[in-house]
Amino acid sequence: MENQKKTRIGLIGCGFYAQNHLHAWTDLRSEGAELVAVCDMDASKSAAAAQKFGATSYTDAQTMFDKEKIDLVDITTQMGSHKALAAMAAERSIAAVVQKPFAPSWADCIDIVETARRHKTWLAVHENFRFATTMQRVRGVIDSGAIGTPNWARLSFRTGYDVYKGQPYLAEEKRLVILDVGIHVLDLARYFLGEVEHLSCETQKRNPNIKGEDTATILMRHSSGSVSIVESTYQSKKIPDAFPETLVEIEGSDGTIVVTRGEKMQVTTQGIFFEEQIGSPLLSWTSRPWHGSQEAVLHTNRHMLESFRAGRTADTSGEDNLKTYALVEAAYEAAATGRAVKPPAWTPKS
Ligand SMILES: NC(=O)c1ccc[n+]([C@@H]2O[C@H](COP(=O)([O-])OP(=O)(O)OC[C@H]3O[C@@H](n4cnc5c(N)ncnc54)[C@H](O)[C@@H]3O)[C@@H](O)[C@H]2O)c1
Repeated sequence: MENQKKTRIGLIGCGFYAQNHLHAWTDLRSEGAELVAVCDMDASKSAAAAQKFGATSYTDAQTMFDKEKIDLVDITTQMGSHKALAAMAAERSIAAVVQKPFAPSWADCIDIVETARRHKTWLAVHENFRFATTMQRVRGVIDSGAIGTPNWARLSFRTGYDVYKGQPYLAEEKRLVILDVGIHVLDLARYFLGEVEHLSCETQKRNPNIKGEDTATILMRHSSGSVSIVESTYQSKKIPDAFPETLVEIEGSDGTIVVTRGEKMQVTTQGIFFEEQIGSPLLSWTSRPWHGSQEAVLHTNRHMLESFRAGRTADTSGEDNLKTYALVEAAYEAAATGRAVKPPAWTPKS
């Protein structure tokens, strides 16, 4: 592919999870991605990423934007910095992909979306769970009509894996499991069953050494009339532990899809049962048990690249992700009030 046709990518935040993004952008070179710059306020992290992935290193985002010609910026910092960094990109008419969670609050998420709209810039959220091979297969079965109309689901992310080791900041978050991982599972519920009318939620803090809730059980009524249960916990004591897999059970008018630990999919359709292994293949840079999540980053980045290059809105655009974030907000409110809550809706200013 001609160099001038490449999409020039800058990445901000070369920390824990960004390593997957860096590998994914490198894998997407032949599809038009060119990682030109990496930035981290920790000079050792940006230098290491620059050296490993062949890009120019920066410690300040403003300087990176001023010195480099960037088409698309991948913001992989923690959520507190997303609003300021996304605004820097929008003001320069640079497209942006922002890691989940979009921002620490609903108001900040709206602000990021409004700013991008004002500057007419392309904006997406890196919500990778729906792009995982397993979840794409589940969606494929739903779309094939094999289970008829899906009308009930249970989606579970339950683990006791020590997430605080790799991401120590999680122990300090006041809003923990719903905002950190529940958000992915809520997005899957939307992806499989559509938008949500109202939800109720119970939260628990079962680990006394952290600030926020580590367990959430959410019950949702979707606009289609279907019902789902979304579960997430970092405090499950079960052997074998399913980390980091999302287990799925979807019942429809004509059948059922079940995804069990070990990425096995069992489908019952019109009274006939079959089972299939649907896990992600290992790539040169992925390793078990994270390979499914890591490969999902590659699929997500590919979707971002293709959508941006085609001038299309991404499936997980900023505006789409507000609908997922609205479920997070509603869940916290429902847990605090003990009532069923309608997710907040965003109305564009213009
Ligand atoms: N999609 C997933 O499955 C998944 C998994 C893990 C983490 N995440 C998300 O990824 C994001 C990053 O998480 P992490 O655990 O990798 O964090 P991290 O702290 O390891 O990395 C963030 C990096 O950003 C740098 N940084 C912060 N502000 C900056 C700024 N203004 N300019 C330049 N650099 C800056 C920090 O120095 C740090 O190196 C979070 O939003 C997290 O929720 C997503």
